[in-house]
Amino acid sequence: MYQTLIDRYIEREMEFGFAAVSNLEIQAFQSQTWEKNGYPHRITRQDELHRYHDFQRHFRFEEFLQAATPMTEAEFGHLQDATKTIHRFAKSLKSPFVLGSGRKSLLASMHYSQILDARRAFSSPNGEIGILEIGPGCGYLGVLMALRGVPYTSIEVTQALYLYQECLWRSAGLRDTCERHISWWRALDRSTLLPSFNTVMANRVLAEMSQQCLAFYLRRIHAHWTETGTEGGLFIAQGIGFQNIPYAKVFEAFDKIGFERIEHKRGQPDSRHITTWCLKSDREAAMRRLEGVGGTADRPVGADRIRAFLADYDNDNLTSEERFIHYLRTGK
Ligand SMILES: C[S@@+](CC[C@H](N)C(=O)[O-])C[C@H]1O[C@@H](n2cnc3c(N)ncnc32)[C@H](O)[C@@H]1O
Repeated sequence: MYQTLIDRYIEREMEFGFAAVSNLEIQAFQSQTWEKNGYPHRITRQDELHRYHDFQRHFRFEEFLQAATPMTEAEFGHLQDATKTIHRFAKSLKSPFVLGSGRKSLLASMHYSQILDARRAFSSPNGEIGILEIGPGCGYLGVLMALRGVPYTSIEVTQALYLYQECLWRSAGLRDTCERHISWWRALDRSTLLPSFNTVMANRVLAEMSQQCLAFYLRRIHAHWTETGTEGGLFIAQGIGFQNIPYAKVFEAFDKIGFERIEHKRGQPDSRHITTWCLKSDREAAMRRLEGVGGTADRPVGADRIRAFLADYDNDNLTSEERFIHYLRTGK
């Protein structure tokens, strides 16, 4: 069912990517971190998709549950709908393991959605709204944004993840989300029109990409906001990511290209780190979007209610990665 999407991606990547652009551009837009550490990032068959289901957040369910709670009733409704969508998709994947509802990555995405909400990404005082996500991972924030009715565009360079996201979103009938799903060769093509957005979210990825790719994104976003006269644009990162490039280089790139850092929260666990930039020329409007941060909304849905809801979908199954780690730690 998903094989056609995989085959089509591989063909297009060859035609419009590898066969069409320079070596330096290919180098800049590869999954640098995973190439270095050997993490598998390409697939050829649909029965490999399951490996990217709720991947890499080993044993962090409670951490993300705490980060995303309490929730509003509306958020809980979206979490329930997204859980059902992801669970249905998981059942359509051929996997030797029992796949759950993607709960760790989904709760992390709900936390991201709350970070966006507090920074007025869904009701900007400055006009049109729209999110551009760089590096969506499992793609669950895309599902939540579709449920909220927020225009959402994404850029993903990793072949296996692009395909996991695309298959999930297509299986859920999210046609707009798929149309605004940008592969690495389309991101590189400066004639690709970016739909309008006033918020960029790039979580745990900025230090994972090459310096060239980071500079490319920053230049495009700067030009886009300047040319479209977007006011109060925010570039938000929940975590800077694994250090393929030093954090200092990331901050330096923003500064050099004309962005100012206006928020930098640190704390433990690292799901509490939030950094936000705006255009240097647009500080005032951007600061207005931070005014609601830390405010208290009516959030009656606590962790226990969410745990009880998710129990129907997960039963505390370990992911395939967690089983391996568990064995390494305990021999069992
Ligand atoms: C550590 S994961 C984080 C995923 C997601 N943002 C989250 O926090 O759950 C990094 C993500 O960024 C993607 N990525 C890495 N380099 C990228 C680049 N140069 N451009 C766009 N995405 C990139 C990876 O494929 C992956 O989806």
